[in-house]
Amino acid sequence: MKFGKNFIEKVLNSTDIAELVSDHGIVLKKTGVNFKGLCPFHSEKTPSFNVNSQRGFFHCFGCKASGDSIKFLMQIDRLSFTDAVQELAKRAGIPLERNTRLTRSQNADEEKGLQCLREAASFYREKILGEEGKDASEYLQQRKVSGKMCESFQIGFSPDKWDETFKNLTQKKIPQSVIARTGLIKSSEKSGRFYDTFRGRLMFPIKDFRGRCIGFGARSLKPDDKPKYLNSPETAYYRKSRTLYGLHEGLDEIRKKSRLIFVEGYLDVIRLHENGFTETVAPCGTALTAEHLKIVRRYTKTAILLFDGDSAGKNAALKHAHLLLLHPLESYILNLPDGEDPDTFMLKHGKKGLEDLLEHKVPALDYLVQQTINNYPDTIQGRMQGLEELLPTLHQIKDPKRQQITLVTIGERMKIPPEMLSREIKRKTNKNLHSERENDTLFCSPNTSTISQDEQWLLQSLLRNGQLWPRVREHLKPEEFSTPRFHQLYAKLLLLPDESFQSFDPLKFEKTDPELFESVMLLLSQEIPSHDFGLSLKRIKEHNLEMEYQQSLIKSKSNEDRAIAGAKRRIEEEKLKNLKQIF
Ligand code: UTP
Ligand code: MN
Repeated sequence: MKFGKNFIEKVLNSTDIAELVSDHGIVLKKTGVNFKGLCPFHSEKTPSFNVNSQRGFFHCFGCKASGDSIKFLMQIDRLSFTDAVQELAKRAGIPLERNTRLTRSQNADEEKGLQCLREAASFYREKILGEEGKDASEYLQQRKVSGKMCESFQIGFSPDKWDETFKNLTQKKIPQSVIARTGLIKSSEKSGRFYDTFRGRLMFPIKDFRGRCIGFGARSLKPDDKPKYLNSPETAYYRKSRTLYGLHEGLDEIRKKSRLIFVEGYLDVIRLHENGFTETVAPCGTALTAEHLKIVRRYTKTAILLFDGDSAGKNAALKHAHLLLLHPLESYILNLPDGEDPDTFMLKHGKKGLEDLLEHKVPALDYLVQQTINNYPDTIQGRMQGLEELLPTLHQIKDPKRQQITLVTIGERMKIPPEMLSREIKRKTNKNLHSERENDTLFCSPNTSTISQDEQWLLQSLLRNGQLWPRVREHLKPEEFSTPRFHQLYAKLLLLPDESFQSFDPLKFEKTDPELFESVMLLLSQEIPSHDFGLSLKRIKEHNLEMEYQQSLIKSKSNEDRAIAGAKRRIEEEKLKNLKQIF
């Protein structure tokens, strides 16, 4: 909704910012014309948060947060601009100025939807406490969820009937169209009649940070009732990419402890809250998004991500580590032991167990680097391949300073010499510009370096010209490819009989090795630029030589070592000249 300038001014003028700040639990002391207190936006022991009531703004000398009442509310309560203005108008008793009829009806719809969800939550709550919900509450007992937690998270039960929820809400005079928009009912294609979406399920109300119910996560109680969790659809007020389960309940603690723990499931959140880790939240039926992380940053700079110990959990952890790299958060990753999720871990090992485990949290960047290099041999070459995997993410870091620092840190962790690192980055950047302009290759992603371009050309020539094969096979080892997929492809080619190359027929592998088939087809389907095969080979060899040389420099302990490395390099370079003549 758009507000007029005058309206916003009126709202601001009617708001006492010192009062607003105090109402958010910040103790202010008067010093001259200003008020002073502990900054809510960063953690500090001596007050540097200043509030000027007369001029209506706040400023923190510590973290530089500053602005007017609207900005304060946006930051502290995670509100959009519109919501913040509305909230302040409400406080000041100013009726909302409404620009168009459309927004008025939109707002009214939203209100009705929220009311409907609120009614549904209390209906489900009633049901779990009654006779119909006996099995459900027994299930909760069996899973050791305490009454206190059921109460505070308002866990309920949806009756296992076709339309009991629908009927109940209708009785409460909520129009069918409103109920339908919340996703609580669906219409049957055949009869057109409405029936309840959630039947016979444990109901977890999903709240926004202000505690308003905006949707549900519904767990099946029978193993063959699929899916395990059914979730409410998105609406104007329920955006999954921005919603965090447990945030409303955890806000105070997140601010107080100045950290936040991410888990994957509803019951994980509840279990951790119950054991004092009230700073725990989970996304609702989606993966963590950049938007989630932005929200987190309003409350704390520290996030710890807990993942299940199985291989799916580890994959998820690695994926999230890439995402975390992009955000200015102090982020950590923790894999639980195999087979455990936060809920079962807590039940087994208790509060102390988790506290101990948290001591072993790994900075997300270290985790990312470690997991990435584990996939490659422990050589400079291997590490460069690992770096190659990280570069696309690194390029997405928006703040240049942070990008530089991250790059240097990665280089250090990977033991890649800085000059090599910057050369590789430059190469990549040039290539990026280049491919944006020409949109050239199919097989190489836009992020390929020139070296993998050479490797691709070499393979393409090889597949087209069988005469090259015997000599190439003699002079080129698979390890000499830096691009993992070309390395693998070449290793596979080496296993084929020489005759195959006289006239290479990829169709032969269609059934026996579909992966090889696909790669070869891709390579053959592209036009290759007219280029010198020998030159590509030479560049690949030179690249490797350089790598080896750099590696021996790192290992070298004396000038003598370095001289030997230099001499060796010169000999190899001589050999290369001869090689070029062979081709
Ligand atoms: P899990 O399958 O790990 O379940 O899904 P869980 O949280 O451990 O649940 P319990 O302990 O078996 O009850 C993790 C999260 O993924 C979402 C839910 O948000 C769930 O909490 N999910 C899972 C779905 O949205 N749909 C599904 O079918 C399964
Ligand atoms: Mn679980």
